[in-house]
Amino acid sequence: MSVDLTQDLLGTTFQNPVLLAAGTCGFGEEVSEVVELDELGGLVTKSVTLKPRAGNPAPRVAEFRAGMVNSVGLANPGAEAVRRDRLPWLRDRIRRARVLVSVAGHTPDEFVQVVRILDDAEGFHGFEINLSCPNDTRRGGLPFALDPEAAARVMEGVRMLTQRPLVAKLAPNTPDFGPVIRALEGAGADGFTLVNTLPGLVLDPETGLPALGAGAGGMSGPAIRAVGVHAVWSAAGHTRLPLLGVGGVARGEDAAQYLLAGASLVQMGSASFWDPRSAGRVKKWLEGYLSRRDLDRISQIVGTAHLQRRSPQPPESADAEDERVTHG
Ligand SMILES: Cc1cc2nc3c(=O)[nH]c(=O)nc-3n(C[C@H](O)[C@H](O)[C@H](O)COP(=O)(O)O)c2cc1C
Repeated sequence: MSVDLTQDLLGTTFQNPVLLAAGTCGFGEEVSEVVELDELGGLVTKSVTLKPRAGNPAPRVAEFRAGMVNSVGLANPGAEAVRRDRLPWLRDRIRRARVLVSVAGHTPDEFVQVVRILDDAEGFHGFEINLSCPNDTRRGGLPFALDPEAAARVMEGVRMLTQRPLVAKLAPNTPDFGPVIRALEGAGADGFTLVNTLPGLVLDPETGLPALGAGAGGMSGPAIRAVGVHAVWSAAGHTRLPLLGVGGVARGEDAAQYLLAGASLVQMGSASFWDPRSAGRVKKWLEGYLSRRDLDRISQIVGTAHLQRRSPQPPESADAEDERVTHG
């Protein structure tokens, strides 16, 4: 039986639900020798800032058993150079995969200026607004994603400039997704990507120093998968806008968890460093998964874990009910 992996959202059709995540595939060209980009659902570019950024001191990436930490420091050529040198490659080479350009900044105005520079260029479908950067205009530099009011100011600013879909990328260490989702939805977001990396630190016991040149970094890979799936699950309780799940997807089973929790699409980051062909394998696995369940469309499984949650099995006894705790 042939199955339909297409997903309709954000004003377009994704040919399948598997995308490459921001910062892990450059602007496409960098990975085009090892990944069939046009076989993917899509890709998200490296985050683009207003000015070029050289990034943080090496080493920028360190692995540990359950994942990796990185502190790349948003190294990118800056918005003007991306428009001139990188988007034309995407325009000329990518036909079927959908491209989201990731935008980052330390002030709301920086996001606005990046979108202004890129908006009428060709080669991409929408923007992913990376709200995990520290907000320079607020004391303490809290990331926008952890400050609903500041995040909404970013979204309002970019919404006024563009008709393109705007997906807000949120942080995993958000205590309650409700306030930030409501604020961003009110400010014009069209969807949410969950999650970015989780703050992490790897120390080298021999030197006593951080493994990364910048000290601490962002943790990704299998270690954050359950955090990401939980974030999507929680977010699905706060919005009907489409969700994009990311964090620790390496295999088809991982992607399925995100879809069941409510994501319409998944993104893969660290796993494609370890094996650039893993996205293709995830896609294939999902086809088999649907066939085994006699389903013909991937959209049929999105969010279905919530249906089961709403009709729990009755507890066997009052004691069993008491024991049903969420952690401990
Ligand atoms: C080396 C590296 C660079 C990243 N750069 C960005 C970035 O520029 N913008 C962004 O929004 N996320 C960035 N991320 C985060 C990923 O897009 C993704 O949210 C995170 O790695 C979790 O997914 P994974 O476990 O599949 O890697 C980066 C991740 C890594 C590992």
